[in-house]
Amino acid sequence: MYPQAIFLGNWKMNFLEEDIISFFREFAHNHKNALVGFAVPAPYLKFASSMKQDANIQIGAQNCHWEQSGAFTGELSTAMLKDCGASFTLVGHSERRQYFGETNETVQRRTERVLKEGLVSVTCIGETKEQYQEGERTKVLSQQIKLGLKGVTEDNVKNLIVAYEPVWAIGTGLSATPEEADSAHRHIRKELISLFPDGGNKIPILYGGSVNSKNSKELLALESINGFLVGGASLKAGEFSALIENTIG
Ligand code: PGA
Repeated sequence: MYPQAIFLGNWKMNFLEEDIISFFREFAHNHKNALVGFAVPAPYLKFASSMKQDANIQIGAQNCHWEQSGAFTGELSTAMLKDCGASFTLVGHSERRQYFGETNETVQRRTERVLKEGLVSVTCIGETKEQYQEGERTKVLSQQIKLGLKGVTEDNVKNLIVAYEPVWAIGTGLSATPEEADSAHRHIRKELISLFPDGGNKIPILYGGSVNSKNSKELLALESINGFLVGGASLKAGEFSALIENTIG
């Protein structure tokens, strides 16, 4: 069902031109059964696209607006992202939810726009530490899926990727255990199938949150995990190459 494991790096607000040059000088990957991409800071979409060594590496953005164009100072449209070489964009990353007022409703509007424009939407969901501690994980995930994916149709679901990133695991060095990740991913799959009886089984579900070259293999061994969204460990070319190599090499 998933011929390629997906490895997406999320560079967040890091790197200047010189760092991107060094990264792609060092980053090597030649796995046919890995789909590799980087969500880069928007000013560098074009530059990163020109620097990557391998035509199979995807370059994407980290956010976008839901309107096509207009008076939205500071925002970026999906057409602009595409024009600058993006083939995908993250939507609703927990840092956007936490610091920039992103809600399930705005996630829904962005996801719908991204899919309508033919880009891949990597729509992010995940519970906070408090929600996790109070046993609300499945309830929160169900809500994020039902509200965030409202309006997505069976027709464009083929361009959807869901990333499960428990907020308490992001950037903390404290990854979810394989058991925890597995139960969350199974729940997400169940919700996706109930929303999309035809395509729900084919939507890749990525795990994110302190994934590195040491814990990735064990996580990807689970049938419920189709790949990773990686922050910190995607900033070092050697570490990210090792992560891919150790997982599927
Ligand atoms: P991390 O970040 O790998 O540094 O935990 C993941 C993410 O925020 O996408």
